[in-house]
Amino acid sequence: MKFIFQFVSLFLFVPLGNSIEPILLVHGGAGSIAESTLPTRFIGVKEAIRRGYELLIKNKSSLDAVEEAVRYLEDDPNFNAGYGSVLTEEGEVEMDAAIMNGYDLSAGCVAVVKDIAHPISLARLVMEKSKSVFLAANGTRKFALEQGVEILPPGALIPDKTRETNEDIEESNIPPRFKIPGYDTSNPSVYEYIPGTVGAVAIDIYGNISAATSTGGIRGKPHGRVGDSPILGSGTIANNRIAGVSATGDGEYILRFNLAQQILQRIRYEGKSGQEATEDALNAMKEEVGGSAGAITIDHNGEVGIFFISNQMLWGYRQGNLIRYGANKGQVIEEEADDNDGVSALQSVGVSTAVIPFSLMYKHICNAI
Ligand SMILES: *[C@@H]1O[C@H](CO)[C@@H](O)[C@H](O)[C@H]1NC(C)=O
Ligand SMILES: *[C@@H]1O[C@H](CO)[C@@H](O)[C@H](O)[C@H]1NC(C)=O
Ligand SMILES: *[C@@H]1O[C@H](CO)[C@@H](O)[C@H](O)[C@H]1NC(C)=O
Repeated sequence: MKFIFQFVSLFLFVPLGNSIEPILLVHGGAGSIAESTLPTRFIGVKEAIRRGYELLIKNKSSLDAVEEAVRYLEDDPNFNAGYGSVLTEEGEVEMDAAIMNGYDLSAGCVAVVKDIAHPISLARLVMEKSKSVFLAANGTRKFALEQGVEILPPGALIPDKTRETNEDIEESNIPPRFKIPGYDTSNPSVYEYIPGTVGAVAIDIYGNISAATSTGGIRGKPHGRVGDSPILGSGTIANNRIAGVSATGDGEYILRFNLAQQILQRIRYEGKSGQEATEDALNAMKEEVGGSAGAITIDHNGEVGIFFISNQMLWGYRQGNLIRYGANKGQVIEEEADDNDGVSALQSVGVSTAVIPFSLMYKHICNAI
């Protein structure tokens, strides 16, 4: 009898044993992030993780999970994506986004998108419903109309806060630091990189890896400027055999270095882990082209990589019952997930959280930040 029970439980166990432990990893931008804005941004990061992870434990695809996490951050005005995106020099919102499925390498990218609440979902529609991989500017509008996606009235994505900051940049805590050759940097209020690009990478129980990135770009950018976020191999990439990556930072630098692909190449050809590859590629970028950036990676072994060469990067992930997040160098805050009461978990920021000395913490993360 006992033997039969063991035999049966073995059968019950096998399918579970074969499924991969899902992970949802997000970032909320790299750069110089004002300390005072961290608590509210952490709330956003954690809520995005909660929503995406919920899909993963319901056996949904990593594609659904990264889209959901990014959609949430697009709605949150504390991030530079969707609602609350920075403004161009003409005072308009122009957004870029990309999503990629590491299972079959299908992808959808959009750039210079206006008046759409969720560019990441538009990118997914491009992937699934269009013959193209990449649509830009007015082409995205035509496609959105064809697909029945709501076009918002002009200005609907601009919260009052953005207008104020745009008008009086001196009061912003974020130092104007965006400088690239060829642009007029004599007036720092004209062209500025603001952290707050959002991205997500996930691995689901099937072992499929997906990546998604969405951004409003840089403040005061000229009409039509496109950064790294929607460019596969620069800001976004996913390939089950190697890794998924979402990058963030100075687009003009990341673009010329192909940061996401540089990370994949170190995993594929040098046998590095997601963490080692992310660190190594960003250090190489710093040396070869400069700029300020960070990236999040999940490799084919289901290992997380988090690293930034900027002053800060907002990041967070959930694996099993643990949520870890941080923004400053060496900062890793760890909380137990409270699935029964998401609200109390959200309110715990600054109350029950602790900054754990990174020498004591999970080596793979702490080496990174
Ligand atoms: C998810 O899949 C596992 C096996 O892979 C199964 O045991 C579980 O019941 C599934 N959960 C849901 C919500 O479908
Ligand atoms: C995920 O992987 C499985 C094979 O392991 C495949 O059948 C499935 O279609 C994939 N899902 C997606 C969304 O690509
Ligand atoms: C692009 O769309 C705008 C409306 O947002 C319209 O005014 C403009 O004429 C369009 N341009 C082209 C080339 O279709």
